[in-house]
Amino acid sequence: MDKYAVFGNPVNHSKSPKIHQAFAKELNQAIEYSAILAPIDGFKESIASFVKAGGIGANVTVPFKEEAFALVDELTERAKTAGAVNTIKVNSDGKLVGDNTDGIGLVSDILNNQFEISDKRVLLIGAGGAARGAILPILQQQPEKLTIINRTIEKAIKLRQEFASYGEIEACGFDDQPQASFDIIINSTSASITGDVPPISERFVEQCELAYDMFYSQQDTSFNLWVKSVNPQAVTLDGSGMLVGQAAEAFHVWRGAKPSTQAVIEQLKSGEL
Ligand code: ATR
Repeated sequence: MDKYAVFGNPVNHSKSPKIHQAFAKELNQAIEYSAILAPIDGFKESIASFVKAGGIGANVTVPFKEEAFALVDELTERAKTAGAVNTIKVNSDGKLVGDNTDGIGLVSDILNNQFEISDKRVLLIGAGGAARGAILPILQQQPEKLTIINRTIEKAIKLRQEFASYGEIEACGFDDQPQASFDIIINSTSASITGDVPPISERFVEQCELAYDMFYSQQDTSFNLWVKSVNPQAVTLDGSGMLVGQAAEAFHVWRGAKPSTQAVIEQLKSGEL
């Protein structure tokens, strides 16, 4: 049976084995997919023994995405721009191809929820790894404009410079917030983990149609609750759709077939998975 695994530390919490088994079942395929706890200083060795044992595809989660980026033999463009690898495909010659499906998982989830990104004013809050992975897939949708706001403005400016050849980005900090409003607002900061809300201006949210918190939670996130309190008309989504979307894209990279995501997202939200 074709052999896949997710590598992380910790990895117990990972939903990837169940998500991929749900995809395989839907598409009438049989796969083996396990969760492998790689030692903090032993990621490379863990991947090597997995490949030796016949593994043909891997997902990579915290804290190994940057190490995977450095380890692979080839990188896709979206992995290169993300600076991180969450999906590895083992070619028939044993070479490792590193990909990143996180950003496309986000964009697919937004589109699957019937929101357009093209010609929209998009605000991305945060300038860390999660933001970086999302930028290219967002720019490829050709928004009217993409603004990045971050607590540390230097990091937003650095992203603007790095992505200059892909499209124009406006960069700002929490202390110099532009007089602007946005259609789509995406929170990529880790603030939701501790229940914090980034201090962005209410005027950004007043007209927005969609707020997306990349944080995945069974309850409403603190950010989404704040958006709703300012603009009850806004639709709010959390990272469960992105989690399933990145997995669906990884499945596609490995097996060429694209599973549908909605039923799996619902199972994840209800705690069934
Ligand atoms: P990830 O890979 O999840 O993006 P990261 O690379 O550590 O993690 O980036 C975390 C992001 O969340 C950064 O944009 C960080 O802002 P700084 O660059 O100023 O550190 C942002 N962040 C974390 N906690 C925050 C908080 N309480 N309020 C606002 N932004 C926060």
